[in-house]
Amino acid sequence: MKFHENFVWGSATAAYQIEGAANEEGRGASIWDRFSHIEENIVNGDTGDVACDHYHRYKDDIKLMKEMGLKGYRFSISWSRIFPTGRGMVNQKGIDFYNSLVDELIKNGIEPAVTLYHWDLPQALEDIGGWGNRDTVDYFVEYATYMFKLLGDRVKKWSTHNEPWVAAFAGNLAGRHAPGNTDLKLAVQVSHHLILSHAKAVEVYKKLNHKDGKIGIVLDLHPIVPATDSKEDYDTSILVDGYQNRWFLDAVLKGKYPEDILKFYKEKLVDPVIMPGDMEIIAGNSMDYLGVNYYFRKVVKRSPHNKIFQFEEVKPEGAEYTEMNWEVYPRGLYDLLIRIKEEYNNPHIYITENGAAFKDDKIVNGVVDDEDRLRFLSGHFDEAYKAIEAGVKLDGYYVWSLMDNFEWALGYSKRFGLIFIDFKTQERIWKKSAIWYKGVIKNNGIKG
Ligand code: FCB
Repeated sequence: MKFHENFVWGSATAAYQIEGAANEEGRGASIWDRFSHIEENIVNGDTGDVACDHYHRYKDDIKLMKEMGLKGYRFSISWSRIFPTGRGMVNQKGIDFYNSLVDELIKNGIEPAVTLYHWDLPQALEDIGGWGNRDTVDYFVEYATYMFKLLGDRVKKWSTHNEPWVAAFAGNLAGRHAPGNTDLKLAVQVSHHLILSHAKAVEVYKKLNHKDGKIGIVLDLHPIVPATDSKEDYDTSILVDGYQNRWFLDAVLKGKYPEDILKFYKEKLVDPVIMPGDMEIIAGNSMDYLGVNYYFRKVVKRSPHNKIFQFEEVKPEGAEYTEMNWEVYPRGLYDLLIRIKEEYNNPHIYITENGAAFKDDKIVNGVVDDEDRLRFLSGHFDEAYKAIEAGVKLDGYYVWSLMDNFEWALGYSKRFGLIFIDFKTQERIWKKSAIWYKGVIKNNGIKG
């Protein structure tokens, strides 16, 4: 099978997960610096202080990308490297870094795709209320505007936010991510501010008239499947789908929040402050594409386990699971893409993340033997291809991740890379999947 000619084969990373140099050259702290330095928050007490040391090694890393034949590279900007306190004074060294990174990518024929916000809010803004504070929307738009002006001549693909569901709910309801809050009301308010800031940033980008550039948002989406055919489980699946998927999809693609979920929150006495005009701004956002991060489906049943949404995830027996205990379910990617096509008016889509953590503990002839990851990717590429054949406007695929990195609350204990990192020596070692992916890119599809 051959993908279409301009299909972007890429891979993705995020600033805090790879850069390191946390306290160097004027970078300010982010909520992840603060959170990861609090005992017990991260497996093994890991932090992103050094991570893959990409800040110092980016030129070598770009060499690896080139060797792999990547057409695109999705990375995020560390907001507090540009504005150490989130607003006001800029840090020239941070600007220099991203300017050189972008130039080096382009010099090597790799198209940069920039994510503005991959969860690392400057701590100084957290100190004045973080994303729960409506002013943060404006600070984000100022930061976004600054970046569009700085890099917009060379960067033609932008996303505002990465996975606002995770930022809002893992960070402010479950508390397992920075800033570590456990407050439903706050989490829902944060989700509204994230979506509003997305819409406002898109508006600015369009006004700047970068006609050849594209801007979108990246959502983490899961097909939600009821565990049995009982009415209870069916209703539960609709609720969980509304909370995780529709809240964000409806907002950015239909300009409104789903009625059933608004009603559900109201019943929980959670009534987010939505100011007059907000929904018009959200509805007016004319983004160019949707970024989809797909990892696994969720099979759910009604249960008091989750106190608010009254559900529990069930792990189907006999299925294969990754090191994250996520079910390997390639078909879910197809289902998701078809659903978006049918229910959301067939937008342009990039798979902005898909990949898997496996053990990666076998080295054969200097290469990490990750047959499981290779099979995982191959299965998902097949489904993406089928979706394109069924009319989905899929324009590219960024594998998560270029290299093993700091997997948030799980630290360095989970490896998602195409390239293996020895975190003691910072040695980069090819995995079999990376060599295979190189062939896929060269052939513009899987042979046979
Ligand atoms: C996604 C995140 C990304 C990475 C993968 C495994 O939710 O966007 O940073 O952690 O999961």
